[in-house]
Amino acid sequence: MSEQVVKELEEALGSPLRKYREGKVDFFAPIVKQVVTTSDIVFYNPRMEFSRDVSVYLVHAYHNITGKEMDLCEPLTSCGVRAIRWACEVPGIRNVLSGDLNPKAVLLANANAYLNGVLNKVDVRWNEATRLLDDCPLHGRRFDVVDVDPFGSPIYFVDSAVNALKKEGGLLCLTATDMQPLCGIHQDACLRKYGGLSLRTEYCHEIALRLLVGATIRIASRHDLGAKVVFSHSSDHYVRAYLLTKRDATEADGNLKEIGYILHCFHCGNRRVLPSLAPLKEAKCEFCGSIMRSAGPLWCGKIWDRSFTEVVKTIVGQSKYKSNRRLNRMLDLILSELDGPPTYYDLHSISDSEGVNSPSTSNVIELLRSKGFFASPTHFRGTCVRTTADTETVKSIVRQLG
Ligand SMILES: C[S@@+](CC[C@H](N)C(=O)[O-])C[C@H]1O[C@@H](n2cnc3c(N)ncnc32)[C@H](O)[C@@H]1O
Ligand SMILES: [Zn+2]
Repeated sequence: MSEQVVKELEEALGSPLRKYREGKVDFFAPIVKQVVTTSDIVFYNPRMEFSRDVSVYLVHAYHNITGKEMDLCEPLTSCGVRAIRWACEVPGIRNVLSGDLNPKAVLLANANAYLNGVLNKVDVRWNEATRLLDDCPLHGRRFDVVDVDPFGSPIYFVDSAVNALKKEGGLLCLTATDMQPLCGIHQDACLRKYGGLSLRTEYCHEIALRLLVGATIRIASRHDLGAKVVFSHSSDHYVRAYLLTKRDATEADGNLKEIGYILHCFHCGNRRVLPSLAPLKEAKCEFCGSIMRSAGPLWCGKIWDRSFTEVVKTIVGQSKYKSNRRLNRMLDLILSELDGPPTYYDLHSISDSEGVNSPSTSNVIELLRSKGFFASPTHFRGTCVRTTADTETVKSIVRQLG
């Protein structure tokens, strides 16, 4: 783009622009001093590059697995970088429909698509996200991939997003940045948005993911869609979930059987998973007799699929993004934890409460494995261990090694 065009864009947008590079794409976005979310300025958050890298790899993996030529939709696109990156970096992209409520974002996203030579693939519209999504099926248009990446909670958009996915199969990608409700700080907002309650435990980021997935699966089931989580992660200040959906009422019925509660004892740290929507009775902790508190209804099933994650890992191994070190580390942790049970233990808080030094995570894992338990680190937090051992066993190992 010539200097004159950039100047005209800056005038139209009312903010100075800078050229950035992510993946294989150069694009313009407002100079970031601090991330603002007013509708007056086009939003760009460089810290979310990692989230976009993961999204590029996941869509690539979906293409490799299905072999499909794909139509995608990003209904909250901002400066368009995610959509443009798919068009430039992922094979098999036929078309990307993007949208934003902010007309300045639409102007900039179109300019960026032009700059990258993908105006033939990336179509950016000025529209409200649910209207953009709802209009497509009315005209016989559905997508292989829909990525909902808003400020805060994506849940408002999920009904329209699942309905806009192809019935024979699609990939739904969701970001939630509303960690305060999802991690048990604002319970009213959590109940309002996700129809469930969270708990402020050491594994609250996993609860956050499970609340998001649980609410999404319940919405998908209303459309007779089965949904399977193939990948998810918690990074920085957000959680991301990737779900495969397809029309299958039987699968939808099966999914609902894995929605339930996680009970937690705030006295001794014990937890119990109850995969059932049956009304909850008051539950006592089997170790200390205290009344347990509950998080949910939420998704109690798997939050990763091994073969999908392995395909992602192979693709990462063949490419050279600057975040690959971080990504490989996260993928290795996820591959080690994905067969484990829900929730994990924080060795620092256990050693504090037991009055001993904190043992190394790897020593604890080794000892747990030698006793026949599943044990792994977790990508959620470096000081934590995911294991099938019960709370008392984990505590006794921390005392022994601490
Ligand atoms: C977090 S930003 C999107 C970032 C982008 N997905 C990325 O990867 O860089 C959210 C965007 O959603 C837009 N937005 C907010 N509410 C909307 C709505 N109801 N419909 C369409 N766009 C909306 C905002 O203008 C903003 O550009
Ligand atoms: Zn207890």
